[in-house]
Amino acid sequence: MPASTRPLLVDVHTHIYTPTYVDLLRKRDQVPKVVRSNDGDERMILLKEEEGKGASASGRPIGPQYWDRAEKIRFMDTHGIDVSVISLANPWLDFLPPDEAVHAASALNSEVQAYCSSYGDAQAAESSFAAQTKKRLFAFGSLPLVPGVKVDEVLEAVQQVKGLSHLRGIVMGTKGLGKGLDDPEMEPIYEAVAAAGLVVFVHPHYGIDTSYGEQDNGHALPLGLGFPFETTIAIARLILAGVLDRHPDLKLLLAHSAGALPALSSRLASCIAHDPHVKDRLQHDFRYYLGQLWYDAVTYGPEELALVERVVSRANNYESRDEQLAFVDRVNDRKDLLAPEGHFPGVERILFGTDHPFFPPLEGEGDRWRSVDENLDAIAGVAGWADGERARVMGLNAVDLFGLGI
Ligand code: URA
Ligand code: ZN
Repeated sequence: MPASTRPLLVDVHTHIYTPTYVDLLRKRDQVPKVVRSNDGDERMILLKEEEGKGASASGRPIGPQYWDRAEKIRFMDTHGIDVSVISLANPWLDFLPPDEAVHAASALNSEVQAYCSSYGDAQAAESSFAAQTKKRLFAFGSLPLVPGVKVDEVLEAVQQVKGLSHLRGIVMGTKGLGKGLDDPEMEPIYEAVAAAGLVVFVHPHYGIDTSYGEQDNGHALPLGLGFPFETTIAIARLILAGVLDRHPDLKLLLAHSAGALPALSSRLASCIAHDPHVKDRLQHDFRYYLGQLWYDAVTYGPEELALVERVVSRANNYESRDEQLAFVDRVNDRKDLLAPEGHFPGVERILFGTDHPFFPPLEGEGDRWRSVDENLDAIAGVAGWADGERARVMGLNAVDLFGLGI
């Protein structure tokens, strides 16, 4: 389809390891690290599973696709991506001592700003949207979120990110200042980020234990299950700690569509309601909070994407049991399944992403990435969505959430 007739496509889940960051990893002899293999190629060893034996032991090959802007643009052009909101990839600064993390965050934020802002107007004009905005690259900044860093130092980094024109949010793992996202010490950070209008992209790195057996399955289980369950647990904890009650303006964008959170939200709500220890902790039914979050569309399948949207669409109906039952009645009457544009409020919370440069094609698979096409096909295949809904998920939601038109 020519660029002018297809919907705007914005990628909100796309990573880089900047040259400064890769140099940091090259100097290390412990995971995370970049090593040179016997055949002279560089490999990145990031995950705890990559330390052991087996198919994932030697990590992943790493090359210019991880840091070279020309490679990112080539990837965007191949897949018709107009605009990317890039983020430093895991494990961010988690492994650094506090003073180094503070210094590195500041340097990386400047580096990422330059990466985006020095991409010239003339080059940007190749895309019709970018021709209007003069911009094709935006980014999430990084914060020095490691144990031992003073909250004031994190707040300074928030102000730095706020002041950089192409940075529209921050990327964050699940550890916070070392004690998770439900740590009370995170409160002033949430407050500052919300006040600055920055979007927080919450992304996993550590996974959870997937070793309930002995076969070697390579990277499949740590990435396919460990990553999304880590996000699920971290966000369930954040909600249960009342963070969204205290900071209703906090904008959290969750990687991999929040993992299992949508599928397990009613079970969690029921577990909470049946537990005297937590049942009165939240101002709303647990499911209500799913309507306060944003989700990337990195599900790889239309049914899974539909599940996220349906769960988020109904989120605000869980204020009371009566509203919940009335919602079920409406669905049974099929009224909510006949979807005029904008009828599914959950659609406005879901945004296209690729996870580039991860999940590249295997040898001989051609230029287009199967992982990207699976996520585009998922958006195209959700039952009940009209063109308007697809256009929101493909790009218009990102324009609104990140203020990309300005
Ligand atoms: N593997 C990673 O380490 N990070 C990602 O974001 C995706 C795959
Ligand atoms: Zn990712």
